[in-house]
Amino acid sequence: MLHNEEIKKRIMCVGMCVLDIVHVCEKFPVEDTDKRCLRGHWQRGGNASNNCSVLRQLGAECEFLGMLSNSKGFQFLKEDCHQRLIHIENCPNIDIDPPFSSVILNEENSSRTIIHSNPNYPILKYEHFENIDLSLYKWIHFEGRNPEETTRMIKKIVEYNKIAKPEDHIKISVELEKLKPELLVLTDQADVVFMAKDLAIFFNFFTPKEAVFGLRNMISNKNNIIICTWSSEGSAVLDSTNNYEIIPAFPPDNIIDTLGAGDSFCAAAIYALSNGENCFKSVEFGNRIAGFKLSFYGYDKISEFNKS
Ligand code: FRU
Repeated sequence: MLHNEEIKKRIMCVGMCVLDIVHVCEKFPVEDTDKRCLRGHWQRGGNASNNCSVLRQLGAECEFLGMLSNSKGFQFLKEDCHQRLIHIENCPNIDIDPPFSSVILNEENSSRTIIHSNPNYPILKYEHFENIDLSLYKWIHFEGRNPEETTRMIKKIVEYNKIAKPEDHIKISVELEKLKPELLVLTDQADVVFMAKDLAIFFNFFTPKEAVFGLRNMISNKNNIIICTWSSEGSAVLDSTNNYEIIPAFPPDNIIDTLGAGDSFCAAAIYALSNGENCFKSVEFGNRIAGFKLSFYGYDKISEFNKS
């Protein structure tokens, strides 16, 4: 059972915060035409930032850590974090415009096409992490990127865990989405690894089962929980002692918005795991939240999901 009591310790999500400009189109646009979309809106995006939006909706105390921008036109991103009570006080702020994405939601087939613009936005460095008071956190989740800097951050948590009381240990999770084998090093010390379907296919795994067992064989840590989402086929889970299950997806009758469904899954699974739920039940909760999220735009209605 998930408990609804207030969670004091924070879940931190480390990664990107970007602006998503969303166009809902009747069908995918034809090149070199000028057409109105059905509707449009903009929202705060980026995987770790989306994870935080969902964690807040579920009632978790959470913090985003990533580069934020002082640029006037993009203050919405920080204001939105404040409004949703997502902690951002440890984020470095720079004077460069943040990355942004143009997103096309195609009503015809529910696809979401993301055109991302990130011309050398500076990366988060270990120096931005090293002075953070780790006693505030129970879980730290990393978007898989910048292996050198991220490895140093993870090492710092591992060192902290060595001297912390067992009940104060921080769990570590990593999301592997980018098609970059050099990111696999981030699994070395992770308790939970989320692998995206695209990456699994990149590694020539063609079923969710092959993906989780295949990743287990590829990496040196043989004890992490490995989770791989496989769109409508559900999510595969391999626990730390090689018990395997495939958990079905829960798509709604009417799919409205697929943008950030994977981030919603990840956040909800972390929420359940961080409350002591086992990995299979946590992934089921993740699938249910991700399915529910597909039935409306953005993330704001997730709090209406019946957690019981
Ligand atoms: C969704 C998302 C968007 C963002 C893009 C970045 O998963 O985080 O919010 O524009 O991916 O790759």
